Amino acid sequence: MSVKFYIPENQVPLEMHKVRVVQKLNLLPVSERMKAIQDAGNNTFLLQNRDIYMDMITDSGVNAMSDKQVAAMNVADDSYAGSETFNRLKAAVREVFGVDNVLPAHQGRAAENILAETFVKPGTFALMNFHFTTTKAHITRLGGEVIELIDKKGLIPQSDDPFKGNFDLKKLRSTIKEKTPDKIAFVRVESGTNLIGGQPVSLENMLAVCDICHEAGIPSVLDASLLQDNIYFMKIREPRCKYMSTQSIYQLLASRFDIIYFSARKLGFSRGGFIISTDRKWTDMMMEFVPLYEGFLTYGGMEVRSIEAAAQGLLESLDMDYISQGPEFIAYLAKELDDYGVPVIKPAGGLGCHLNCSEIVPDIPHDQYPAAAVGAAVFIAGGIRGMERGTMSEQREPDGTERFAELELLRLAVPRRVFTLSQIKYCADRVKWVWDNRKLIGGLRWTQEPRVLRFFFGRMEEIGYWQEELVAKFKKDFGDSL
Ligand code: F0G
Repeated sequence: MSVKFYIPENQVPLEMHKVRVVQKLNLLPVSERMKAIQDAGNNTFLLQNRDIYMDMITDSGVNAMSDKQVAAMNVADDSYAGSETFNRLKAAVREVFGVDNVLPAHQGRAAENILAETFVKPGTFALMNFHFTTTKAHITRLGGEVIELIDKKGLIPQSDDPFKGNFDLKKLRSTIKEKTPDKIAFVRVESGTNLIGGQPVSLENMLAVCDICHEAGIPSVLDASLLQDNIYFMKIREPRCKYMSTQSIYQLLASRFDIIYFSARKLGFSRGGFIISTDRKWTDMMMEFVPLYEGFLTYGGMEVRSIEAAAQGLLESLDMDYISQGPEFIAYLAKELDDYGVPVIKPAGGLGCHLNCSEIVPDIPHDQYPAAAVGAAVFIAGGIRGMERGTMSEQREPDGTERFAELELLRLAVPRRVFTLSQIKYCADRVKWVWDNRKLIGGLRWTQEPRVLRFFFGRMEEIGYWQEELVAKFKKDFGDSL
């Protein structure tokens, strides 16, 4: 029995694990960091790992494995069909969610592809609290339209609302009425809402969405990729969940949603993706796409070792000692930055700490990509790689005009069980330095702008010479050698 006490506020987070395998890191001098980000076209996706000190681009597929996961990988049963590994995965899904029907896919977006192929037809609508990039791409590719119904409180960058991912239930009801249930492919709840700062949805709100869907005869879908963080927040922020076990929350959700899918790169500390369902009829509808796009039903394009790791990782997702670590480190980082006056998304969510770049560099217009510019500055200041979540991550309108993002964020993801607290403190200090020197930061412009997914492949350059000025200031403050 663990005696850890879970309150992130004003406490030093306590890891309930120790580190037994380590990986050497590099920290380049500041001029070389500037060269590296310029060579990468100011796009953090194009940086090389060897040039990075803290990789905070994502929490996907980069979480540390436990000793039990590594051990499980060694007993993986490699057979095309009917492998014992898949049976162990099914047993883990049964233990966590209480569900028997499981379809594998090679990662979360592949599960989304199967879901979209099954339910989305031209002219249909997919209603959701907020979109995720890959989810939306699959739906629109098939002629469907995404409608976002997040409660407007979710888009206020700084507030004390504990569940900013919640649906506006009134709007959900009126949209179903307006569009008519037969035109609605499904309603999707994204737990730990990614693009608005890893913000959770309350249990009450999720169950209300399920009730509305059941009443209208519309499939209810839960994207559970970030559910472990979301369940941590339910336990500490939602009174009715305080005395529920994590397992009882997972199982209650699985009994009420028609379909649950997730990226096991996040939920499960591994790789791959899964689609699960209490009612066999949903699995049967989607099953045919698995061999077509992924692989046979007992491996789904995944390597068996990763399936073993996911099975063990899912069991660990029940354990508050493990699932508290990410959100508590993020809360710590957000509080340090907030104390320094740096504008961050509040309250802190799961996945990572999000800098509100519209407030850091208010004079840089959307079409000079403020969040990407702050991302380049943070890399120059500390060798820290974040991810732009603003206008650069949007796609232009068909007529070529920019679609300005609602929030200009730089995401500093905190992979689970990976960083030490001293690294988190280093990150806070370097971001503070960027904040103190924010007046030096300028905009960016495209040198190569791909038509689709430009945030992955596109290249930009600084407008003027602000990066050289930033480096000169850094050397003045810290000395030449750093
Ligand atoms: N749904 C959510 C909520 C996600 O955050 C992701 C991935 C996916 C689906 C797709 O899963 O990567 O396994 O194909 N998010 C990653 C990120 C990419 O960095 O936030 P995937």
